[in-house]
Amino acid sequence: MSAVLKISNLHVNVGETPILKGVNMEIRQGEVHALMGPNGSGKSTLAYALAGHPNYTVTDGSIEIDGVNVTEMEADERARLGMFLAFQYPVVIPGVKVADFLRHAVSNIRNPDRKEGEGLIGMREFRKEIRERMNELGMDPEFARRYLNDGFSGGEKKRMEILQLAMLQPRFAILDETDSGLDSDAVRVVSEGLAKLSGPQMGVLIITHHERLLEFNPPQFTHVMLGGRIVETGDASLANELHANGYATVRARHPEAAAENAKAEAAAAV
Ligand SMILES: Nc1ncnc2c1ncn2[C@@H]1O[C@H](COP(=O)(O)OP(=O)(O)O)[C@@H](O)[C@H]1O
Ligand SMILES: [Mg+2]
Repeated sequence: MSAVLKISNLHVNVGETPILKGVNMEIRQGEVHALMGPNGSGKSTLAYALAGHPNYTVTDGSIEIDGVNVTEMEADERARLGMFLAFQYPVVIPGVKVADFLRHAVSNIRNPDRKEGEGLIGMREFRKEIRERMNELGMDPEFARRYLNDGFSGGEKKRMEILQLAMLQPRFAILDETDSGLDSDAVRVVSEGLAKLSGPQMGVLIITHHERLLEFNPPQFTHVMLGGRIVETGDASLANELHANGYATVRARHPEAAAENAKAEAAAAV
C-alpha cells in the first residue's frame, strides 16, 4: 500500500501575518508533484510548514502522513515518519564530516528510540552502505570525508542533498530549489540525482521553475500557488505552459489571489 501525504485546508502564519490561506494537496508515494508560483506566493512557507519549522504556525487545517496527524509534531518526529525537506540554504557545520552527519541522521531515522551516544548503526555496515549509494550516484568517495557544507559549491550542496535522500530514503521528499543562484552544474546534479532516486517508494514535491529539473522528473501533477492558495492544478503541460508564458495568464484568471500576492510582494520589499 502506498502512503499518502495529505494537506487539508492548511492555514499558516508567520508571526501575526497569515501567509497560507487554505492549501489542499495529496501526494502519494511514487508521485512527482511540481509546485510553481511567483515570488512571495507561499511556496517556501508550505515547505517549512510541512517540515515542522517552529517559526511557521499552523492556525487551521492539518497535515497527515499515512493517516497520522503530524500537524503538532516536531520536525524530528515527522522525519521519522518519512518526511524530508531539502533546505534552500543548508547550514554549514565545520568540524562535522559528511559521513558522520549522515551516520547520525540515518541512525535517528532507523532507531527512533535511541539515546544520544547509543544505537548508532555499525561503522562497517554504514561505510558499506554509503559507499554503495555514492557509487550508484557517481560520487567521489572523498566527498564523505569533507566537512558538512563547509566551502561547498552550489553543485556540492546539491550532491549533499541527493546523498541525504539516497541514505534516508524518505517516503516524502520536498525539494525547495531556488530559482536564482543555482549554477547549471547544481541543476544537473539535482535533476539527475532525483531521477535516479525517485520511484514507487518516494513521493516528491519539487518547488522550482527550472525546466531542466522537471524535464528529467516529469511531474504527474503541477500546482500553481498565488497569494497563499493553490489556484490551479494540472499535469506536466501546465508546467510547460508556465515556463513558456510566465504567470500573467494565471494572474488574469485569478485576480483576487493575484491582488493578495501583489500585497505580499510589496510587504516583502519594504
Ligand atoms: N520568516 C519569515 N518572516 C517574515 N515573512 C515571511 C517569512 N517567510 C515568509 N514570509 C512572507 O511570506 C510570503 C511568502 O513567502 P515565501 O513562502 O518565501 O514565498 P515563495 O517561496 O513562494 O517565494 C512573503 O510575503 C514573505 O515575505
Ligand atoms: Mg521560496
